[in-house]
Amino acid sequence: MARLSQLFVSTLYQAGFPPKQAEALNRDLAAASQSIARDDKAGIAWSKAHAYPGYTSYASLNDLPRRASAFATLEALLLPHVKKFARAIDLDPAAGTPVLDSLWINILKPGGRHTAHIHPQSCISGTYYVRVPGGAGAFRLEDPRLAMMMAAGMRKENARIHNKPFVDIHPRAGSLLLWESYLRHEVLPNAPGRAGHDRISISFNYALR
Ligand SMILES: [Fe+2]
Repeated sequence: MARLSQLFVSTLYQAGFPPKQAEALNRDLAAASQSIARDDKAGIAWSKAHAYPGYTSYASLNDLPRRASAFATLEALLLPHVKKFARAIDLDPAAGTPVLDSLWINILKPGGRHTAHIHPQSCISGTYYVRVPGGAGAFRLEDPRLAMMMAAGMRKENARIHNKPFVDIHPRAGSLLLWESYLRHEVLPNAPGRAGHDRISISFNYALR
């Protein structure tokens, strides 16, 4: 009898905060994010210089949980999920526990996208979604082995999720995604004209300490 094993698995963690909790939290996070996006001159300049289609605090602010209580609340809510994910992927606690390394705001304008990238220097990365307009582009993860595949066979259009080279996720406001930081990912373009308002998300990295 033949036996199949799934080897070298990449695990995506998806959760959603309870709707009532998410609604209040998202209102506070959106207001705090928009206020910071108006005032953070260094972040505005960085976003412009790097052709970021909107605003990100990625390169300018590293103290959001101390700037606004909404980010501190989010940080506290994230930790149990990060610990659960660490257990799910069998991280060895002896190697360190996940500690928040960075957390930043992303505000993407209608039509905006974020090209494929990884998060070097960290172990677990993720995004929490604050506002997601209708027509928002998918969050796309790609198989990290693509560069080695050469003559690998094409997968069927309807291949099972663990066999797909690209996986598109459509998060909603209140969704939380976690993945290992080595996974390349991108945000596909928000449909101009269809995405009626900005897409606001909070991304973060955890390192082992
Ligand atoms: Fe990212």
